Amino acid sequence: MLPITNYDPPFALTRASHVSLAVTDLEASRDFYRDVVGLVVTEQTDDAVYLRGLEESAHHSLVLERADEAKALRVGLRVRADADIVAAEKYFASIGIDHQRVEKPHQGPTLQFTDPVGTHLELTSSMDLVERRMQNFDQFVSGAPQRIDHFQVVTYDVQSATGFWTGLGMRMSEYTAEDGTDELWGTWMEVKGNTHDLVFTNGHGPRLHHFAYTVPDASALLHAADVAGALGFGEEIDRGPGRHGISNALFLYLRDPDQHRVELFTTHYQFIDLEEVPIRWDVSNPRRAQLWGMPASRRWFFEASEFPGEVLREPLLHANPATLEEYLGVH
Ligand SMILES: [Fe+2]
Repeated sequence: MLPITNYDPPFALTRASHVSLAVTDLEASRDFYRDVVGLVVTEQTDDAVYLRGLEESAHHSLVLERADEAKALRVGLRVRADADIVAAEKYFASIGIDHQRVEKPHQGPTLQFTDPVGTHLELTSSMDLVERRMQNFDQFVSGAPQRIDHFQVVTYDVQSATGFWTGLGMRMSEYTAEDGTDELWGTWMEVKGNTHDLVFTNGHGPRLHHFAYTVPDASALLHAADVAGALGFGEEIDRGPGRHGISNALFLYLRDPDQHRVELFTTHYQFIDLEEVPIRWDVSNPRRAQLWGMPASRRWFFEASEFPGEVLREPLLHANPATLEEYLGVH
C-alpha cells in the first residue's frame, strides 16, 4: 500500500534547506562550488566555507568542512518556527529516535537526528539573513544557481523511509515501482509546493546521491557545462544534460573534487493542490529517467557519498538499472 501523508504532523517541516559536506581539500572544493557551479561564498573560516545561491537570503545552503575523509555529513531541513524544534525533540524522544541539540554558526535552534534508514539530518528554524543577489546579474557565474531545492538519498528500504517522512507531513508527488505493482523503488516527496524536497531511491544505503540547485534557464545550464569543461571538470559531468520524465527537470550532474555530486536543473512544476495524485512510473520505463538523452552512466547509478559511521546495507529490492555503458555495449 502506498504511504499516506499525515496532514497533522507533530511539527511543521517547510523545505530543503542546507547540506554539510566533509571535504579533503577545502580550497579546491570552495573553488569548485564558486567557479564551476557558480555559488556565492558567504563566509570562510579556517575550517569551513559557507555558500549560497544567488537568490537566497539565508546565510548558507552549502557548508564545506575541512576533513581527512570525504563524507556527506548532514542534509538540512527547515521547520516553520522555534516551537517546531521543541515539538520535534519531544516527538523523536517519544518514538526512540536519537537526537541532539547543537549550536551551529548562523543558525537558530538546531536539532540533529538520524532517520530510521540511517540518513543524517539536521532541522533548524532560522538562519542569519544576508543580501539576495538575484538582481546582481553582473555577478552571475557559470550556472548562476539561484537556490537549493532538494536532496536525493540512496536507501536499502524505500518503503520504510517513505513511511517515516510521509508521517512527518511530506507528500509523494511521483514514484517508481516494480512493474505493474506499487512495490516502491523510488519516491519523490515534497513539503514546499513543488515536486520534491527529499527523494529516496533503491540501492546500497544510506548514502547521499546528490543535492540540487535551480538555475535560471537552459542557457545557464549549458553555460555551466561549458565552464566545467573550460576549467578542467568536463570529465566530472557524470550525467546530462538531459530531461527527466520524473518531475520534468532539465538537468546536469557534476562531481566535486571529492566526488560529491551536485545537480543543476531548470525547474519543477508546482505540486500544491491536495486532490492531485502522485504520478506512478514502472521502473522499467526509460522515459521516467530521461525523455531524451543518453541513459545515466554507471558511476551516476552506483556512486554516492556515505554518511559517517553508517554501515551500508544491501537493498531489499534488487536494482538492475539500464546504464549508459550497457546501452553503448561497453564493458
Ligand atoms: Fe535531483
